[in-house]
Amino acid sequence: MTAISPPLPGENRLGAIVDDLASKGWSWQPGFLPDALYRALRAEVLAVDALDDLAPAGVGRDDAFQLDRSIRRSRIAWLDGSSPAQADFLAWAEQLRETINRALMIGLFEFEACYAVYRPGGFYDRHLDSFEGARNRVVSLVVYLNEDWQDGDGGALLVWPEGAGEDDAPEARLVPEGGGVVFMLSETIPHAVEATERTRYAVAAWWRVNPSVGGRIDPLA
Ligand code: OGA
Ligand code: MN
Repeated sequence: MTAISPPLPGENRLGAIVDDLASKGWSWQPGFLPDALYRALRAEVLAVDALDDLAPAGVGRDDAFQLDRSIRRSRIAWLDGSSPAQADFLAWAEQLRETINRALMIGLFEFEACYAVYRPGGFYDRHLDSFEGARNRVVSLVVYLNEDWQDGDGGALLVWPEGAGEDDAPEARLVPEGGGVVFMLSETIPHAVEATERTRYAVAAWWRVNPSVGGRIDPLA
């Protein structure tokens, strides 16, 4: 008789993520970010914030790009892989990309990521991550870098199901506790960040299927 070895816990977790993405379009994985990576990214975002090395986040793309503080109030810094924390994060994300591609046959291609800092009063109104007019961002990834987040601190992520109307209640309200990771289909899952009472740290990231639009690299910001 052949013994069948049980799947590794890590494999179970990845299986749950791709099942969630296929069935409902999003997945919440508390404590999914490896601990060493969490500590390294958190230390770096705190340093970046202390230096105020962040730019106001925008909405829209190209000519439609605008700094609309009534829709989104946060600051960002793009990751370029130039620090050990960023290089490790990009390598970790690459493993996820391979798993998602194999399981869902999506053909995710390019990855872009930024630190996102919401100061008290920061928020992001309900939106989709994939901008109209270009099928580029396909899967969104958000990684939380907050210590001891309490419900009363605000800053929860609200997630609606695909096709939900403006007045429909969200399907989930996720507290952005450090190490938690959210996956969402960028083109279909509406989501919003409630106003935060405390400075709120995350990495917001996306995989794209095709980085070039109209024959040039998309200068998305
Ligand atoms: C985003 C976003 C969610 C979050 O950056 O597009 O929706 O929880 N972030 O930070
Ligand atoms: Mn978003």
